[in-house]
Amino acid sequence: MELPPRPTLFDFHGISMIKHFTNNWDNIQSFEARPDDILIATYPKAGTTWVSYILDLLYFGDTTSDCRSSVPLHERVPFLEISVPSRTTGKDLADQLPTAPRLIKTHLPVQLVPKSFWEQCSRIIYVARNAKDSAVSYFHFGRMNHVLPEPEDWSCFLQNFMQGKVVFGSWYQHVTAWWEKKQTYSNLHYMFYEDLIEDSGQEINRLCSFLGLSPTAEQKEHVRDKARFDNMKQNKMTNFSSVQMMNHSVSPFLRKGTIGDWKNHFTVFQNEQFDEDYKNKMKNSALCFRTEI
Ligand code: A3P
Repeated sequence: MELPPRPTLFDFHGISMIKHFTNNWDNIQSFEARPDDILIATYPKAGTTWVSYILDLLYFGDTTSDCRSSVPLHERVPFLEISVPSRTTGKDLADQLPTAPRLIKTHLPVQLVPKSFWEQCSRIIYVARNAKDSAVSYFHFGRMNHVLPEPEDWSCFLQNFMQGKVVFGSWYQHVTAWWEKKQTYSNLHYMFYEDLIEDSGQEINRLCSFLGLSPTAEQKEHVRDKARFDNMKQNKMTNFSSVQMMNHSVSPFLRKGTIGDWKNHFTVFQNEQFDEDYKNKMKNSALCFRTEI
């Protein structure tokens, strides 16, 4: 299949964006959220798919025996703002979801989230991942995913990442603005990829307590096991192998799933420059990330 040309970045309400996430803007903004909707919000590459699958398993169980088993995760948990030619938009997929609660994902910065989510007091789970590993993961994702602009080389991508000239804008503004929101919006659970790696059982417990779920120990262990990196990588419903715009031979979607891969990419100079810039950009935030454990 011939892949369409890569999109170009442009400024959209102060955020770097591409047409695939703004084409359907009026419909996205008028999306009618429901009180029992669960929105999974992240900056790209923070573990969105992992948390989406955990929630899917917690709510709908192991679906090997029913028709959900043949529906890829990205259709079970629609990506609200996506709109690419000849595919149902994320907004329409969300509208058509037959289940309750509806699990919906978004990468939108907090100020661009459709207002109905706040009005309906929907529950929101925000997943954050440290900036260095997010940048590395985003770089490889750009290489393999033709929906995104060409990332050029690593050094160039890293500079763009630091300047917020990547799709969905600045990582720094994204994670801090969502953190600020958590201080005033009580239905927001803010979690970290690194905690999930360190102790997924504990993070699943926290998710359950936020959501008011009480699965048995056996059910939780089952969820944890199904959502393990190696299992998700083998699973055609979670590994994005059916998405034509992604070339997994360039870099698989489930690539490494670790903390600290940035050490294999950053030069000593890049690391010093990044740390200096990071300190400055994050100086007013109480947010603390771990880049190794
Ligand atoms: P890497 O590129 O570092 O491997 P998102 O779903 O937000 O796009 O995030 C993708 C990142 O999460 C990828 O990171 C992917 O490997 C990682 N990931 C997905 N499922 C995971 C799992 N079960 N365990 C650990 N990491 C996972």
